[in-house]
Amino acid sequence: MNAGSTTNGAWDGAGRRIHMQEVGTRDGLQVEARFVPTPQKIALVDALSKAGMAKIEVTSFVSPKAIPQLADGEIVLREIERAPGVIYSALVPNVRGAERAIDARADEMNLVMSASESHNLSNLRMTRDQSFAALSQVNAIARQAGVAVNVSLSCSFGCPMEGDVPFQTVLDWCGRYVGELGAHAVTLCDTTGMAYPTQVAKLTRAFRERWPDIELTLHFHNTRGMGLANVLAAIDAGADRFDASLGGIGGCPYAPGATGNVCSEEIAHALALMGYDTGVDLARLIEASNRLPALIGHDTPSQIVKAGRRLDLHPVPDDFDIIRERALARAP
Ligand code: COA
Ligand code: ZN
Repeated sequence: MNAGSTTNGAWDGAGRRIHMQEVGTRDGLQVEARFVPTPQKIALVDALSKAGMAKIEVTSFVSPKAIPQLADGEIVLREIERAPGVIYSALVPNVRGAERAIDARADEMNLVMSASESHNLSNLRMTRDQSFAALSQVNAIARQAGVAVNVSLSCSFGCPMEGDVPFQTVLDWCGRYVGELGAHAVTLCDTTGMAYPTQVAKLTRAFRERWPDIELTLHFHNTRGMGLANVLAAIDAGADRFDASLGGIGGCPYAPGATGNVCSEEIAHALALMGYDTGVDLARLIEASNRLPALIGHDTPSQIVKAGRRLDLHPVPDDFDIIRERALARAP
């Protein structure tokens, strides 16, 4: 149990800070059939900044043939309004991507490879060792340019083609990035929603014990309905940073069966009720989420957009007075 829950009962956040990191404009839009026009992407990022997200993964600098939806990454990153304190990140798979990220003034490069060989080959067309070599070069370029680096390990909780990925494999790759490359920040990604709470707690604890000073992010997809449960299990095991996407959209087009990330407004709503300090203005976040269907051409999975917040109350039935009078007129 974390310090907050020990003093205030299980699941009481007691004002503990949880950093919410938005990935909807990258993980979300990369999988949409419709290309969201550049000005609308910029407006969406600006709305997310105003909603108080700690970090925003604005776009990716990957091959535009692989992900045509984000081919306008440079323009989006250059033209957003940067809010003080918000970190504007971009996903980078290779040296070409790093050059583009520096050119567009990304605050952080999110270097990506997979803990699973099959997913790495499908997604990045490289073996894991080739990815590590490419990302070592990217890391050196980022350092020279003074740009922060986060390393994301896809499929850390299971691979849709290989099944379970051994704990030790995940920790070994983390160890190589932290030890050999001097990475300060690592994200463990559940690319296709295979993570479950006890597994999440175990891996989070193992990571925290081994690298207490490394910034750890958990990235869950809600593919099997365990997203929020996984977030809570990770918090209890010592995590305080989570990726989430507006409306719960998202997914890797090169991971079979992938669906959306955990939904930003659902996580922010739940954590606020439980007394955590996410820094998020929920009303603004919901307002931003309400814009999505018009941009992507379909509804999102967001339960909060459908149902409203817990205390968004509804009027009583029109004939409520009659119901009450009849009830009161009956014998006790
Ligand atoms: N930005 C822009 N263009 C890039 C690029 C980058 N970061 N990396 C490669 N390209 C271009 C090359 O210039 C080349 O273009 P050309 O055909 O016009 O000459 C083409 O893409 C292929 O390049 P190559 O180096 O042979 O790459 P590849 O075909 O082996 O693919 C990746 C490797 C990593 C570039 C590609 O698989 C990729 O972008 N994957 C990302 C997938 C993704 O974003 N998944 C979801 C997020 S995890
Ligand atoms: Zn993802």
